[in-house]
Amino acid sequence: MILSSSAQSNEITNVRLIREGTNVSVRVGQSAAIAGGVNSTETTETVEPKAEITGTNGIVEIPDVSNLTLEETDYPIISKDYLKTSKTPIYEGANGIVLKGTDKKRTASVVIKIIKRKPELSQQSYLTLVFKEFEVIKKCTHKNVISILDIAVVPDSNEFALILPYFSKGDLLDYLCTLRRFKIEISASLKDSIFKQVVKGVKYLHAHDIVHRDLKPENCMIDADGIIKIGDFGYALDLSKDNRPYLLKNPHEIYCGTTSFKAPELFQYEADILANKFDYDDFFANMSISKTLDYWSLGIIYWNIFLMKTPWPSANILDSKNGAFIKFKKYYPTGESQLKKLINELNDKSTTFKNNLAMFLFKSLHYDSRELIIGLLNPEPTQRVSPDQLLNSNWLSQVYANPKDLLLLMKK
Ligand SMILES: Nc1ncnc2c1ncn2[C@@H]1O[C@H](COP(=O)(O)OP(=O)(O)O)[C@@H](O)[C@H]1O
Ligand SMILES: [Mg+2]
Repeated sequence: MILSSSAQSNEITNVRLIREGTNVSVRVGQSAAIAGGVNSTETTETVEPKAEITGTNGIVEIPDVSNLTLEETDYPIISKDYLKTSKTPIYEGANGIVLKGTDKKRTASVVIKIIKRKPELSQQSYLTLVFKEFEVIKKCTHKNVISILDIAVVPDSNEFALILPYFSKGDLLDYLCTLRRFKIEISASLKDSIFKQVVKGVKYLHAHDIVHRDLKPENCMIDADGIIKIGDFGYALDLSKDNRPYLLKNPHEIYCGTTSFKAPELFQYEADILANKFDYDDFFANMSISKTLDYWSLGIIYWNIFLMKTPWPSANILDSKNGAFIKFKKYYPTGESQLKKLINELNDKSTTFKNNLAMFLFKSLHYDSRELIIGLLNPEPTQRVSPDQLLNSNWLSQVYANPKDLLLLMKK
């Protein structure tokens, strides 16, 4: 995990934004990750997804490619059907390599996302992983969710690559870091409108039974019109499918995610799985509750967008070093009247929350958003505020900004 923190005391950590990765990862060409920056000034056309993509089934029925040869495959091939246009990847992480490319007629820029085959994964698990990501994105048609163009075979390596539209404006983490680096002012309403787009995307995903499970600014792309597109469905689950066989084979995927965006219950899942105490039956019987993992991440994303900070390095109460979150949880309001009292305290300039410094930081969020963001970060999953509640709230329902304003800021 890569985290940078400027501790105010042993208990409170005011964590700054950094490319964290689900595992240690490197963004090629951007050594100072938080310095970030919009990738380039070039303008690029993106292509629309193909109506029909050959040869794929679904998460459970994966194609039989065990004896795949390049002469026989129905799948497009990298270097033949899709060409790399740059040797240096846009990004290289533990799970994949993202390269800029084009289709063979060179009509459009694409991204070639090669999904790494980890040696510990069986062929079956690797294929499930790849086609799970592909099928989930293919199912989505929404303004705030990326689309997919194709899936292709990488010659020699027996790996697959997802072909995605190329977003020359990069991801939201780079964008936020660039604003900070160049001290560019961004209005509260523009920040809120960015968040609203992410919330809309999540609402759509959940309505289609998809849980993302790795929501964070670096997984949100910005398109040529300044519109936010949720991407990276590597950990996503389609709840309408039978995920049980895959998750039983790969139980670490039950508690996956990026540390500072992970909901507190995931750390308990991890501890229970590792101690062979996890109640799998209960988990599989109530999988729709995993939507609330995304609600939690939305709360942290709002912190990132609004303050360019994270309230705590992690919500793992099993680690006594996480004093900030432990106190936050301890003093979390349990009913309406406690919540009202807390909101009044937050609105009262003189309250210092001496015993609960993470809560003190909530005073820096703006007035209208506090109650809802606290609601997203409810330690009790069933009580978390949902995207619907956010979008119907007096706060977000009134938020609007022209997405192009997002791009105009970068030109200043
Ligand atoms: N379509 C795209 N256009 C431009 N950049 C992209 C695109 N897809 C991914 N990236 C860049 O690559 C990074 C990693 O891609 P992602 O899909 O999140 O892979 P991983 O699963 O390895 O995290 C993103 O954070 C983003 O900066
Ligand atoms: Mg990612």
